[in-house]
Amino acid sequence: MTRIRPASAADLPAILAIEGEGFGEERFPPAVFRACLRRAGSVFLLAGDAGGAAGYVLGAIDRRYRPPLARLESLAVRRAWRRRGLGTRLLESFERAAASAGAAAVTLEVERTNSAARRLYRRAGYRREGALPNYYGPGRDALRLRKPLG
Ligand SMILES: CC(C)(COP(=O)(O)OP(=O)(O)OC[C@H]1O[C@@H](n2cnc3c(N)ncnc32)[C@H](O)[C@@H]1OP(=O)(O)O)[C@@H](O)C(=O)NCCC(=O)NCCS
Repeated sequence: MTRIRPASAADLPAILAIEGEGFGEERFPPAVFRACLRRAGSVFLLAGDAGGAAGYVLGAIDRRYRPPLARLESLAVRRAWRRRGLGTRLLESFERAAASAGAAAVTLEVERTNSAARRLYRRAGYRREGALPNYYGPGRDALRLRKPLG
């Protein structure tokens, strides 16, 4: 059974393995994850079982907004675990943690060409809020998605 729990500094090697498989050249460097593990307002969850770490979700509660807004910054599942509902479970766990922290909505950016992630988010109730031309580099647009919580 795959469990989802808060990530800690001891999980960094496992997180980097998931990240490398999910994002390749575009992976976040270790320093970003270290900073996110220490940051106030982070929601950083890791999924895994006896076989190892399977996926993570990372985001933050932005309290500059009233009510607070949850920003989902990254979501990845190792290839061997994909298409078994784990990405969706991680997303749901993130939403629950965000709602418990008082957030009224989740926002995120996804690359326009990332059809797997776009489908996952659409099925989970995320709707398009806007487009961000060249967000990931020249000619690589993002879509900003949003889901109200509660
Ligand atoms: C996107 C990602 C997290 C999905 O993880 P997952 O555990 O496979 O997701 P789920 O099993 O919960 O999939 C939920 C739904 O999303 C859609 N989906 C997921 N992967 C898909 C794919 N490769 N092709 C088409 N639809 C896909 C399907 O509708 C799927 O439901 P179904 O399997 O019943 O058809 C995973 O593919 C990944 O890590 N990709 C690389 C990193 C990435 O792009 N992250 C998102 C950044 S915004």
